[in-house]
This record gives sequence, C-alpha cells and structure tokens, in this order.
Amino acid sequence: MRWDPNREGRDVIMASDGDKNRTVGNAPVGSARQERRGFDSRAMRAAFPALHREVHPGKPLVYLDSAATAPKPQAVLDAVRRYDAEFPANVHRGIHTLAEEATEAYEAARATVAAWLGSTDPLGDASRVVFVKNATEALNLVALGWAGSRLEKGDEVVLTVAEHHANLVPWRMLAERRGVTLRYADLDAEGRLTFEAVEAVVSERTLVLAVTGLSNILGTSLPVDRLVALGRSVGAAVVVDLAQAAGRLPAPVNGGWLEADFLAFSGHKLGGPTGVGVLVGRPERLEETEPILGGGGMIARVDLDAVTWTEPPHKFEAGTPPIAQAIGLAAAIDFLDQFDRVAIAAHEQRLAQRAARELAALDGVRLVGAGADRVERHGIVSFVCDAVHPHDLAQWADADGVAIRAGHHCGQPLHRRLGLTASARASFGPYNDDADVDCLIATVRSALARFGRHRATVAVGSHRIGTPR
Ligand SMILES: Cc1ncc(COP(=O)(O)O)c(C=O)c1O
Repeated sequence: MRWDPNREGRDVIMASDGDKNRTVGNAPVGSARQERRGFDSRAMRAAFPALHREVHPGKPLVYLDSAATAPKPQAVLDAVRRYDAEFPANVHRGIHTLAEEATEAYEAARATVAAWLGSTDPLGDASRVVFVKNATEALNLVALGWAGSRLEKGDEVVLTVAEHHANLVPWRMLAERRGVTLRYADLDAEGRLTFEAVEAVVSERTLVLAVTGLSNILGTSLPVDRLVALGRSVGAAVVVDLAQAAGRLPAPVNGGWLEADFLAFSGHKLGGPTGVGVLVGRPERLEETEPILGGGGMIARVDLDAVTWTEPPHKFEAGTPPIAQAIGLAAAIDFLDQFDRVAIAAHEQRLAQRAARELAALDGVRLVGAGADRVERHGIVSFVCDAVHPHDLAQWADADGVAIRAGHHCGQPLHRRLGLTASARASFGPYNDDADVDCLIATVRSALARFGRHRATVAVGSHRIGTPR
C-alpha cells in the first residue's frame, strides 16, 4: 500500500507493473473511472481560489481567458504542495523512499493522462505519453525529431490557416531547412474551418497532416477520427494539436484520439500547473523519433565515443522532468474527471454561443470567422469592435473586472486572412455562468458607448468573412 499524493489522509494503491488491483491517481484503471458527479458550475467555481479575488476595489474577477490558461483548482495546488512538502525527490534516479514515491507519482501521472484521452488500457498506453514543457515543445519535438529526419524536398505538410503559431512555426522552420512544401486548408466563404477544406489540399504527396483539433480563435473543431482516416488513406502521419480540444471536447471513450500518430497539449489549459505539456505518440512513431534534447535520464549507455538512447517515453525526457507539474496535471485531470465531460462541454458551448449571439447583435461588433448561429463554438468567441481597438477594449473590460484576451492570439496568419491585425477573445470554462456573459456584454456595450462610433486604428476594413448579420 502506498501513499497517493492526490488524496489527503487516504492510502491508495498506486499504479506499478505487476499490481493486479491497480489505480491511477484515485481512479480505477481499465474499467469505468470514478463515479462522475453531475455538473454544477457554481459548485465547480468554489474549487478555484483565484476566481474569488477582486481585481480592483469592488470589482470581482470575471475570468474569460481560459483558452490562454485555466485557473487551478485547490486539488492541484494541494497535490503540488504535497510533492514539494513531503517527497520532493528526483525521479528514476534514487532508491530511497522519497525518490520511489516521487517516481511512482510521476509515472502514475502518465497513466492518468492516457486514461483521460480515452485509453482502454491506460497503463499499457502510459509509455506513449511523453512529458515535455508545453504543447509548443511537443509539436517541435514532432517537427524536429520525427519529421526533421524523414521529410525531403517535394514532400508536403498540410496545415490550416487557423493554426496556432505553435503548430505553424516549427513546420515553417522545417520548410526552410529541408525544402518541404507547406499547404494550407483555407476557411470557406462563410469563414468556417471545415474538414472538407483539409481534404481538398491533401494528396499523395502529403506526408504529414498537422492540424488543430480546436481553433483557439474560431472556437470550432475538426473531427480527429476523420483526419486520421484521411491521413491513413494517403499514408500521411496525422498530428493533432489538442491544446484547446483536450479540455474542451470530451475524448472518445474508445481512445479514438489515440489513433492519431501524434497528439500535443499543455497541462495549464486543463487547470494543471504551467511547465508541463504532453506529447502522445503511436509506439512505432515514438520509436522512429529522434530525441531533440540530450542529457541524463534519456540514455541506456554513454561512452566517450557513443551514446545509446533508452526507450520512449524516457528517451525524450532529458534532465530532471517537470515532476511537480506532471503530478499537478494528474490532479487536475482527476478533479475534472469527477464531472460529466459531455455536460461541461455543452455548458461551455452554450455560454459561448449565447455570448456570440449577443455580441453580434451589438451595433459595430463583428465576430471573427463565421457568424453567431452558423457554427458550433466550443467555449471560445473572438470578435472585433469597429470603434474600439481590442487592446483598449481589454483594458476597459479589466477595469470592470472582466478578463478577456486581446491581440492576435498567436494566430497572425488567420487574422491577416480575415483582414484583421487583432481581435478580442472571450473564452469560457466550466466555472463560468450566465452572469459572466452578462458582464461581458455589459462591458463591451459600455466601451462602445464610451469610444463612440468612429473607427479605431485597427485595420478591420477588409474583413468580410463572417459578417454576423
Ligand atoms: C491551439 C493551440 N495550440 C498550441 C498552443 C500552445 O500552447 P503552449 O503555449 O502552452 O505551448 C495554444 C496556446 O494557446 C493553442 O491555443
């Protein structure tokens, strides 16, 4: 019996090879996870300390920036504190008790991630889960470590115009270095990102299909299962940027996402700590991938004139890994997993849909991408006000306690495609409710009244796609 860092005052048998009666974190492995509670956003909100602060005197926080990073539930703060306070040891190095406890908690976190992604065999799939710094590093590892030694001049990588820079710049770098051609799936005439548009640019020359599972700007998703089938049909590897989708879409229960060759996401967008991200790869792809960092922990043997790598996932985890962060990520997943994910996704979708409708109805406000009722929005709505620069709007909203994002959201090509330089973005989490939408609309409305109807300096003139009404 070993101590579980995720639970105060309880002994839980931790996952380790050979255990018959195994658990991951607090949840049984390989069978139904723990009993899911019904979903109540107010009760959920109570678990997030940062959501209870005032940002200015008399202005309680209305947090609408979860797509940038999510607040952390108390369970995550506790798990990280417990690691630091009680077994702050390195992993896969020591043989003393603290080192073993740390190693077990860190390895259990892998299986928690696999289970979260819908694996039917989380312990078996744990070796496919690589802990890195963030989604950006995970995508760089694929582009440099896997594609970097395989793709050649004339080979094609298919992306979309809506990729986050994290899933565009590494491929651009590869294009510069190896003469690889990048092809981009475009938005349709209404400003929607569709599977059909991706299909239209895939060909026999496509070796990699690297696309977002859910756009951090448009808020719309692409179906991972169909992308995988499309990639297979032409022999291309399918890389899915799950940075937004991992927390916003319920994973298929049968592990359908795990059919992709590579998946990437960040812990902090799920309510885990910053500093940990995840790359999940099919076993054969991870075997083929070269490490991009060398050092301790990733080797089988080192001689002065030769090095042999160890097996995945450790092959990619040179140096001391993000131990506290991975344990915190598992605690975030265990926390979220208590609730019905389908209900959470529907809740976030409803709030974003309502916000989109009400924003679009305001004179001088336009949505980025397709109009209010033309797409399913997974918790994210981006918009521009003709008379108010997004930065001015975000500052105005902040004075009201409303935290929204302003800028290009690491999606400069998409903004340019739409004739924009920047936009405002509101993104919702399970802890938001209708009162938060009311606050958003009220602050935008008052900004419009304050800044008047004259055009701001932001270039919105050529923006024609997705005019909401
Ligand atoms: C769709 C998408 N991909 C990748 C990333 C990169 O995540 P990180 O900055 O945690 O590496 C983000 C972050 O906003 C994102 O929204």
